[in-house]
Amino acid sequence: MHGLVFVTWEKYLEARFGADMLYRYRNAVGEGVYDAPLVNRVYDDSMLLAGVAEASRLTRMPARSLLYEYGSYFITNGLTRRQCAYLLSQARNGRDLLLAMRAAHRQMSETSTAVTPPLFEYEAVSGPPDGLAVHYDSPRKLCSLLHGAFEGTARLFGEQALVHETQCMLQGAPECIFIVRFIPAPDSMPAGQMDDAQRERWQTRRALADLVYSVLPDQDGMTLQEVQERLRQRGAEGNQLRPFLILEAITLLHHAGWTTSTAITNDPADELGNRRYWRLQPADS
Ligand code: HEM
Repeated sequence: MHGLVFVTWEKYLEARFGADMLYRYRNAVGEGVYDAPLVNRVYDDSMLLAGVAEASRLTRMPARSLLYEYGSYFITNGLTRRQCAYLLSQARNGRDLLLAMRAAHRQMSETSTAVTPPLFEYEAVSGPPDGLAVHYDSPRKLCSLLHGAFEGTARLFGEQALVHETQCMLQGAPECIFIVRFIPAPDSMPAGQMDDAQRERWQTRRALADLVYSVLPDQDGMTLQEVQERLRQRGAEGNQLRPFLILEAITLLHHAGWTTSTAITNDPADELGNRRYWRLQPADS
């Protein structure tokens, strides 16, 4: 499973229960200072499930409630919003983002065989207000996380989600089905709203990401320095050649499934200095 889930899970635990609880949690799951999860790595699903069970024991909260709260945090926290900005910036409202997630999760699964986000099926449900029936059949059966993610998606756009699970795999059904309706929440500020200055900065970041995608190879990969040289040959200058901003552009593309690297593919020879990056083609649906 993608490191973004593991890193944001621990950020949720700290935000919700405090640094001391996170410290006890890390001790309990045997996580040392040097093996805290990283966003550019993948980890075994069992580590997350063991972590959820441990957090439930330490907090005396049911695992389903922790996963539900985490699901909302997963979508609205600053790290996901920064890393997934390429994806999030293309949605105008909760329904848009939810409908985009089948293809977006599918594209993300191109980044590594260990990344298998859920591929939702949808049906329109008439209203008022109109809604969506979302079919979820992930073998991980994390439907509480999904339920929370619907709530987080609504908050991102200043909306409210009306969610009703009509059948559930945890009760023996072949798949979970959620009826989801997004309604305006007049008094709430969209968590993801950008002001003019932020929108302008975003346009600059997006333009560099598109330029970086155009110079990356389709296989074998390039180091950051080689990408910088390719950009220079393409006439890039100033901030466009700053390694930190090039890496940020590669990370933005990665969290939309357009790039991968020797880190996320667990290449044994991978180190920060010799890390290689390459681009991915559109996934077949
Ligand atoms: C409507 C919004 C979204 C919903 C409902 C949603 C739902 C989920 C759920 C339920 C999972 C847990 C894995 C599973 O069940 O198998 C998941 C995993 C994941 N999601 Fe999403 N997600 C949404 C948006 C996003 C966004 C914006 C990103 C940002 C890039 C993202 C990236 C991921 C990643 C990386 C995983 C881990 C998959 C893996 O490693 O196998 N999701 N998502």
